[in-house]
Amino acid sequence: MTDVRSTLTTQLVERGLERREANWLIDEFAPGLDPDFFPVLDGAVVRRLAGEPLQYIIGHWPFRSLDLDVDPRVLIPRPETEELVAHALLALSRTNDVSPLIGDLGCGSGAIGLALLVELAERGVAATLVGVDESQDALAVAKRNALKHALSAASFVQSSWLSQVDESLRGRFSLIVANPPYVGSEEYRELDPVLRYEPRGALVAEDAHDTPGLADLVEIISTARAWLRPGAYLLCEHGYQQGDATRACALAAGFLEVETVADMAGHPRFLVARNPAC
Ligand SMILES: C[S@@+](CC[C@H](N)C(=O)[O-])C[C@H]1O[C@@H](n2cnc3c(N)ncnc32)[C@H](O)[C@@H]1O
Repeated sequence: MTDVRSTLTTQLVERGLERREANWLIDEFAPGLDPDFFPVLDGAVVRRLAGEPLQYIIGHWPFRSLDLDVDPRVLIPRPETEELVAHALLALSRTNDVSPLIGDLGCGSGAIGLALLVELAERGVAATLVGVDESQDALAVAKRNALKHALSAASFVQSSWLSQVDESLRGRFSLIVANPPYVGSEEYRELDPVLRYEPRGALVAEDAHDTPGLADLVEIISTARAWLRPGAYLLCEHGYQQGDATRACALAAGFLEVETVADMAGHPRFLVARNPAC
């Protein structure tokens, strides 16, 4: 069996796959090395060699402790967004809210909000999640992921940012977290073409305040405060060059304790802002 496995891996590497990816595809599509499954494996290899992201071919991907379904209707969750979840947990712990209401704006696959629900439950905190996305397609994937992980405290709303969220929730969120589109259209044209497999609307935003790709962040930062409890937090992921502009926007919106947090690579990537306590 080991020989069959290593021969198969070598064949896939010779066709142009990285060894790690060859092994992933074998595990996914021909785990028992049954030759009946080789045509399915071959189909997956052809898709990968054509440039399609591995995550869409496999159809699921790990995000923190969750295995999330992903397909071309949603952004593939990124490792730096896992860091955003860690910062969100820290912020929430400072609020001392025992049953926090969380808003995940631009929820995509549901990655951020669903991971928060699970990790808060592990800490004995029963949170409730409202996931928001303007894309009905993305919401279908997020709902499937909530079902997959039996997360009944999650609900989802089709809305452009907070515009269609139930008015009764104003002033009730302990945390609003967002990983919105923040790539300017010029930058998008220069990025790795593999990103074209992901929904453009998940990546590209209009410019604002002379900053490429800032418009969705501006909209979120300038409207979120009204939806937060006193002392609650807004956290947003943003591009390397958007730290100054997002902090300025948060201060202009009346947030306190406004800071930019760097990712593991040392790049300024996350806005953390607190609603004044009263
Ligand atoms: C960068 S993706 C983030 C997806 C997911 N939160 C993650 O971190 O993997 C941005 C998401 O925002 C959504 N989006 C774009 N414009 C929006 C808008 N005006 N209102 C709500 N959601 C929007 C996209 O459909 C996409 O799912």
